[in-house]
Amino acid sequence: MRTLGVLTGGGDCPGLNAAIRAIVRGAIAHGFEVIGIRHGFLGLAEGETVPLDRHSVAGILPRGGTILGSSSYDCFREENGVRDVTETARALELDGVVAIGGEGTLAIAHRLYAEHGFSVIGVPKTIDNDIGGTDVTIGFDTAVQICTEAIDRLHTTAESHNRVMVVEVMGRNTGWIAAAAGIAGGADVILVPEVPATIESVAEHVRKRHARGRDFSIVVVAEGYRLTRDSGEQDGPVVREVDEYGYERLGGIGQHVADELESLTGFDTRVTVLGHVQRGGTPTARDRLLATRLGLRAAQLADTGGWGRMAAVHGNEVADVPLSDVIAARRDVPRAWIEAGRVVA
Ligand code: F6P
Repeated sequence: MRTLGVLTGGGDCPGLNAAIRAIVRGAIAHGFEVIGIRHGFLGLAEGETVPLDRHSVAGILPRGGTILGSSSYDCFREENGVRDVTETARALELDGVVAIGGEGTLAIAHRLYAEHGFSVIGVPKTIDNDIGGTDVTIGFDTAVQICTEAIDRLHTTAESHNRVMVVEVMGRNTGWIAAAAGIAGGADVILVPEVPATIESVAEHVRKRHARGRDFSIVVVAEGYRLTRDSGEQDGPVVREVDEYGYERLGGIGQHVADELESLTGFDTRVTVLGHVQRGGTPTARDRLLATRLGLRAAQLADTGGWGRMAAVHGNEVADVPLSDVIAARRDVPRAWIEAGRVVA
């Protein structure tokens, strides 16, 4: 009997369990036995696994997080990491592994495949939605829904005072969540890393709104935005710390923007940092559906020997692409989205 491993790597997001469930059930239907690997590639290096069958994934579809646990362990950064990973896979007699992950996990998967002939298939997840080769990633829709609801709530309190509300959302390199939730929530200003609007232009926009009699403004800012001045000078993104795997932890640009806006406009300004609330809780129906479709495609790829590829969405169709294409290009928010946000603000 063939054996397939499945792991979740990097930051968690809603929809991972739905993907695990689909991979397990799809792979079993193709005649595989499935082994869950704990804590991303770390579990593969250390041989920490759990058997998965139809029964063990029952009831996990609506659950946030990942039943397998996750980490940002990178075998290419650890001494003997690649040797440990490949030896465990051999010892477990794995025919291949499905790695559900974002930028970092998919890059590891690609290198393992390209440099070591390791049989791996990728499934794209990240609330940031910035993975190349697919139109959308698991977790994005839920994060946008959570942020939109938060913006709606902030509207009602902002309206009651002459206030500027700054909302900081996730998005390390791209502003997909800020743009999507900003448009859906009717934000007055959307600040993203891709288009660093200057703080003076934002202040001017807010001042004009208030002069027109609008006595509040909502500013949505992605954590990766660089505070930019008319002089061309840039600050940020704000890096709080570097974690045990060398990844920078961002957060704090919202306060920085708020301080500058308050001093430029004189309006009372408040900050809300949504943080990990954006990644928690039950996935939306759209994310469950996406995770199920991508998981089933990954199982199908394993069945047909489509190693080195990633399940993807192109338009309304499920597709698959080589991992080499995925890591070659990050997907930025199109200018048209930013423009749309400006026109309707
Ligand atoms: O990549 C997803 C993401 O949520 C980013 O938006 C954010 O910068 C990062 O993960 C936070 O990571 P951690 O949970 O390790 O603090």
